[in-house]
Amino acid sequence: MAELSASILAADLLNLERDIKKAVQSGVKWIHLDVMDGHFVPNLTMGIPFGDAIKKKFDADIESHMMVDNPNMYLERYCSFSKLVTIHYEAPVQTMRVLKEIERLGSMPGISINPKTSVSNIEALLPAVKYVLVMTVEPGFSGQSLIEDASKKIPLLVEYRQRTNLDFLIGVDGGINRDNISRIAALGPDIIVSASAIFSGNVEENVKSLKSCMKENGNG
Ligand code: DX5
Ligand code: ZN
Repeated sequence: MAELSASILAADLLNLERDIKKAVQSGVKWIHLDVMDGHFVPNLTMGIPFGDAIKKKFDADIESHMMVDNPNMYLERYCSFSKLVTIHYEAPVQTMRVLKEIERLGSMPGISINPKTSVSNIEALLPAVKYVLVMTVEPGFSGQSLIEDASKKIPLLVEYRQRTNLDFLIGVDGGINRDNISRIAALGPDIIVSASAIFSGNVEENVKSLKSCMKENGNG
């Protein structure tokens, strides 16, 4: 079964410790840190101090999702608390070079693609990554609706991975909730990221219900 990753973008920031604790105690394996710079996406969010503080307090693995023009900036700091650092194919940098640098700094290198970017665009990068994050919303905000067409890239990646014997994980991020999670889980991702469906309302109940909906499709 896929693992849940909790994007704290929709957590109660004034009660962040409480919210993360509830998510982790309910069996969430990953904490997803949405890093935005106000340029690559029209929003500004959290960065290094959040990652440092979470790492100090919790056992969960942190995955940093870099929605920034320049993921080279402070990369060493991000790698120091992240098990996984995901950069965007669409960012105007030398992607392969940054991926290699993430690996050299001791984190798993990940590549993320926006809804309009095809899997064929990143094929040459796949041998160098340990994670591919399929965006099912335009990056920038939580609480948007899932773009169905974008989710079709998950089975393409599953098939590609099998055919080429590569060993990256596949994640999906954006618009996932209890109504669509069983359908998304059935497409074969390893990690399912969710913000609002985990943190709006009762976190423990939300995680429990997302997990049981995931199982419904025979993926449990
Ligand atoms: C969007 C972020 C997502 C977002 C998901 O730019 O990358 O991680 O927080 O939020 P939901 O699950 O509410 O769509
Ligand atoms: Zn994200």
